[in-house]
Amino acid sequence: MTAQKCAAVVVGAGPAGLAAIGNLLERQLAGKIAWIDPSFQGGRVNRQYREVPSNTKVSLFQAYSTAVQPFRNVISSTPTPNPFATLAKLDQDKTCHLHHAADMMRALTDGIVKMDQVYACQGSVVAANQTRNTNWTVYVQRPGSSDEIQLITPRLILCTGSHPTSLPVPVAGLDNLQRLDLDVVLKPSDLVSIIPRCHSQTVAVVGASHSAILALFNLFDLARTTHPQLRVKWFTRHPLRYAEFMDGWILRDNTGLKGMAADFARQQLEDAVLSKSEAGRFISKVDCSGGPDREKKQMAAHLPSCSHLVQAIGFTRDPLPELSIDGYALDKPQFDHDSGGFMTESGRAVRGLFGAGIAFPERVVDPHGNVEYAVGLWKFMKFLKKVTPQWVVASS
Ligand SMILES: Cc1cc2nc3c(=O)[nH]c(=O)nc-3n(C[C@H](O)[C@H](O)[C@H](O)COP(=O)(O)OP(=O)(O)OC[C@H]3O[C@@H](n4cnc5c(N)ncnc54)[C@H](O)[C@@H]3O)c2cc1C
Ligand SMILES: NC(=O)c1ccc[n+]([C@@H]2O[C@H](COP(=O)([O-])OP(=O)(O)OC[C@H]3O[C@@H](n4cnc5c(N)ncnc54)[C@H](OP(=O)(O)O)[C@@H]3O)[C@@H](O)[C@H]2O)c1
Repeated sequence: MTAQKCAAVVVGAGPAGLAAIGNLLERQLAGKIAWIDPSFQGGRVNRQYREVPSNTKVSLFQAYSTAVQPFRNVISSTPTPNPFATLAKLDQDKTCHLHHAADMMRALTDGIVKMDQVYACQGSVVAANQTRNTNWTVYVQRPGSSDEIQLITPRLILCTGSHPTSLPVPVAGLDNLQRLDLDVVLKPSDLVSIIPRCHSQTVAVVGASHSAILALFNLFDLARTTHPQLRVKWFTRHPLRYAEFMDGWILRDNTGLKGMAADFARQQLEDAVLSKSEAGRFISKVDCSGGPDREKKQMAAHLPSCSHLVQAIGFTRDPLPELSIDGYALDKPQFDHDSGGFMTESGRAVRGLFGAGIAFPERVVDPHGNVEYAVGLWKFMKFLKKVTPQWVVASS
């Protein structure tokens, strides 16, 4: 099989992969850029989170959509009405439901895949091997066939995303406890039919960040409407934390609650209001602070009375393709959160391998010295605008 030569290969067509393609196209590399994804539909935001209220302002989705010339070209050649026009008409200072962001990304993707400089290939990258510190041979599995495509490139960019973290529960004998997928709990139109209405059910929610608060909200909304017998136990190990708007910057920009989740938490979940709030009629808090032993004791005391469990405890990288250098497995590549490059386990830089997105976010330090990882459409775009020029030079 002949391998096709490309200037770069971008793996993944979520918000990060799309931003990576936009930035690489803007650099006008000699040769095509290959873009690989099973569906080219805007990644997880479109697949799972269309019904989720955003925690970022509309203006940042707008900024993302117009950040690079190839995106602006797509916008100007897309007939109206279109998702760009819809986004532009929303109040830019407010948040919105993520279907607006998802539709914007799908429309950009539809335009980008048609460009002559792009070789869009539906499938999954299963492996990549670098030979003699120069090119990567990238192996792409096509859906529903045993066909494999090979690509040769000096630059391989991993924007492969993450999925909800699932951990074993530190309590034995909970055989009847049914796990709920966080993605389903974040999608009210699916959640409504997953939980039985007729019997009393108690759902355990573990966590206290954005996903957990939205999970609590969606379950509360069921309890006050279609599922009056539903109750929720909320297992949390830290106080509610909010983003704070400072003078020109945001404290806890990446870890603090914002938008609708922050409003709901402040108005209904804080200790001072929970017992009197409408949500407090259905949700009871189980304080798991004080370390792993206390958390385990609290879970052992309260989980046996629960019928369902949803863990909202962060996200874990999706499995990477099998990576190797001159045929030797590249185990546990270390991501450099400043440059977007990778190192071997022993600390040697891996030439031509880069990453971005929720799986490979930028490390940021705020004016108070707090370290966070920057996750969000506009944050991916800002990071990629900064590092793509360096990537191109470093792998030329
Ligand atoms: C519930 C939730 C709400 C969020 N809300 C906001 C918000 O309001 N505002 C905001 O800015 N950000 C938000 N984010 C953060 C961020 O924008 C999303 O997490 C986003 O989906 C991350 O984009 P990504 O491209 O890194 O990954 P993904 O969206 O997961 O995309 C990865 C893509 O790579 C593909 N892929 C994986 N492996 C391979 C392979 N081997 N070969 C080919 N393709 C592959 C996958 O199929 C997928 O299409 C939210 C996140 C979550 C979890
Ligand atoms: N649009 C929205 O409103 C929205 C909704 C959901 C997610 N998001 C975005 O998606 C990303 C992920 O958010 P996320 O809320 O899913 O996760 P997250 O921000 O990574 O937070 C994970 C939370 O889980 C807790 N945790 C970790 N391990 C735990 C354990 N073993 N037991 C109990 N608690 C544990 C952490 O507490 P510690 O700090 O104590 O470790 C932290 O509060 C973020 O970028 C977020 O902005 C956005």
